[in-house]
Amino acid sequence: MELDSIVPWGRSYEEYIKMFSLSEEDINKSILGCGDGPSSFNYSLTRRGGKITSIDPIYGFTKQQIKGRIDKTRKLVIGQLRLHQQQYRWSSFKSIGALAAARMEAMGLFLGDFDIGKTEGRYLSLELQNCLPFGVRQFELALSSHLLLLYSKQLSYEFHLDAINEIMRIAKELRIFPVLTLDGDRCPFLGDLITHYKSKGFIANLQRVDYEFQVGGHEMLVIKY
Ligand SMILES: C[S@@+](CC[C@H](N)C(=O)[O-])C[C@H]1O[C@@H](n2cnc3c(N)ncnc32)[C@H](O)[C@@H]1O
Repeated sequence: MELDSIVPWGRSYEEYIKMFSLSEEDINKSILGCGDGPSSFNYSLTRRGGKITSIDPIYGFTKQQIKGRIDKTRKLVIGQLRLHQQQYRWSSFKSIGALAAARMEAMGLFLGDFDIGKTEGRYLSLELQNCLPFGVRQFELALSSHLLLLYSKQLSYEFHLDAINEIMRIAKELRIFPVLTLDGDRCPFLGDLITHYKSKGFIANLQRVDYEFQVGGHEMLVIKY
């Protein structure tokens, strides 16, 4: 993966808790973070005694390279938010400046943790759609924030099947948030995915969560055995 093609933009622990309706019981599970990028979820959960492995191709780059990419991305993302402000709910974050500050704080926590987390094996440079070096249902819970479904115009239905099949081999449950695309439309193949996994004997459904930043983005897709 080319560093220039990555949009590193990381959310906080508190956002993950809300996006995925994580209960006390959930955060004590062994967790796989799918495409966690520069989010501070791994850092904060580890500090609280949780057990998490995050996978993302961005972890193949150095801390300095990731920081440089974050700095470049910041301007781009803020420019896009300015253009499309009406597609977002400005309640938790009161302004674009407040949002940018919260994201930069979360990514700062990630950057401070990255080198030690790598040596501890908490940040692994892996891509979801490939065969992952983990055992069958090794993880109790897998989380995908702002990757699967969101990029459904860039990542095909087949990519999603490959990635989700592999995740369901190594995890007992997967939660994906949001179920909208970057434009704020519902992922066009969401219904097909739900039908597909139900036909394979999985439980697959949408659940409302107490988080909404993209207008209408208040549901997660849950797939489990
Ligand atoms: C928009 S960021 C979201 C980061 C984090 N999950 C969050 O919500 O704050 C999307 C992340 O997906 C990662 N990514 C892209 N393709 C991937 C793949 N094939 N497998 C795993 N991660 C991937 C990117 O490197 C990037 O860090």
